Amino acid sequence: MEKVLVTRRISDNALAFIQKSGYETTIYTEIKNIAQNDLIKMCEGHVGLLSVGPNKIDEHFLSSCKHLKGIALMSVGYDKVDLDAANSYGVPISNTPDVLSEATADTAFLLMLAVARKAFFMHKTIARGEWQFFNPMQYLGQELHGKTLGVLGLGRIGLELAKKAKAAYHMNIVYHNRNRNEQAERQLGAKYLTFDELLAQSDVLSVHVNLTNETKGLFDKNAFGKMKPNAIFINTARGAIHHEEDLLAALQHGTIWGAGLDVTNPEPMDKNNPLLDMENVCVLPHIGSATEETREKMAMMAAQNIVAALRGEQMPQVINPEVYESL
Ligand code: DGY
Repeated sequence: MEKVLVTRRISDNALAFIQKSGYETTIYTEIKNIAQNDLIKMCEGHVGLLSVGPNKIDEHFLSSCKHLKGIALMSVGYDKVDLDAANSYGVPISNTPDVLSEATADTAFLLMLAVARKAFFMHKTIARGEWQFFNPMQYLGQELHGKTLGVLGLGRIGLELAKKAKAAYHMNIVYHNRNRNEQAERQLGAKYLTFDELLAQSDVLSVHVNLTNETKGLFDKNAFGKMKPNAIFINTARGAIHHEEDLLAALQHGTIWGAGLDVTNPEPMDKNNPLLDMENVCVLPHIGSATEETREKMAMMAAQNIVAALRGEQMPQVINPEVYESL
């Protein structure tokens, strides 16, 4: 029986789907990331890989695993994949778009409000026994009502966040994208801005772009310097899009007001990171899509993709469709 390697325990339904489709599954259950050379060895004897977690699918990996008939990622992001190498070795790769847009937008919304009201820091003050008396001038946050939400990357997740912000707080929506999002302009009155205009006008700026050579380190001293002093920076996309030391300095010097991060660089974030002690900062451990409902859908989507690849069919969520032209 042909075998699929699954690099984390995922939903039973998704595993059962693969098995009922006629494939055996090998599940890696250790609570640690797999070193690339170990993953290459594990892939021996398997025809499909369902990759969960930060596995690097690069030239070295692909040249050693040319026998794979497909790789299904259980994530929407594919910044760890070298698509040119995948094409040259004829390996189709899929991701899990759409099904996680609402959950991830919820996480961005949660961070926006939590930062605005200093929620995580307040929780810690109680745990430290510092809740003593009512001081009407202490720990004041910001209101979001009527403020401007800037979205960098108004795609599926950014649009969900914009809808929530509009519905909850009548926020004005501005955005910067490679392409205009006419649906958002019609539905939400979203206004297209240049990147510099987005920096200058956003009260909350939320990042929803892929990590690429162009977006790596995009939020640095220069970018933070163009933002408003009351601005809240939210990143639920990838940690490497912001420059952490520059973010820390921008917060310490009051260049911007607060930050909410679901992604850091590196991950996990060190427990002594000074960002964790700041009043106007909330950090989460990359849980954007971590709901029971969404993880079930992601696992099932990845399972369906890998089964399609093994049957010689086009993976429904293939990210390198051009690979099929050369097969
Ligand atoms: C995604 O789906 O890309 C999440 O960030 C998990 O990696």
